Amino acid sequence: MKIAIASDHGGVNIRKEIKSLMDELGLEYEDFGCECGTSVDYPDYALPVAEKVASGEFDRGILVCGTGIGMSIAANKVKGIRCALVHDVFSAKATREHNNSNMLAMGERVIGPGLAREIARVWLTTDYEGGRHENRLNKIKAYEEN
Ligand code: RB5
Repeated sequence: MKIAIASDHGGVNIRKEIKSLMDELGLEYEDFGCECGTSVDYPDYALPVAEKVASGEFDRGILVCGTGIGMSIAANKVKGIRCALVHDVFSAKATREHNNSNMLAMGERVIGPGLAREIARVWLTTDYEGGRHENRLNKIKAYEEN
């Protein structure tokens, strides 16, 4: 599984934490910044990463900003992206099992690095359940196609 990761200036520390987790898990990933000493605009990071996931170049994406909200709003504008804004472990598991989320967004001003690491670990290692959830995802896909 190939992961694309990025953050704005508000998410640099959690991005670093998640990269060390992915190293530990032996996952292949690419870091798309930011190299930010100063303030940057989250759509400039969320949209290219979301496009890389939507195109199949990467299997999943992880985005971090101050709240996770801007990143998730931007990523979800890209067709085929199901970006889940998650700040608890229960939702991390549920969004993989039920929503087959292909992107995860978190906010560094909301949670600490320890919880972010655990959320990412669960999100990265939980499989989609399919079954009854497939029909629901198909309804979203059908809407997107129109
Ligand atoms: C940047 O100040 C902040 O707005 C951004 O990191 C994020 O929280 C936006 O949703």
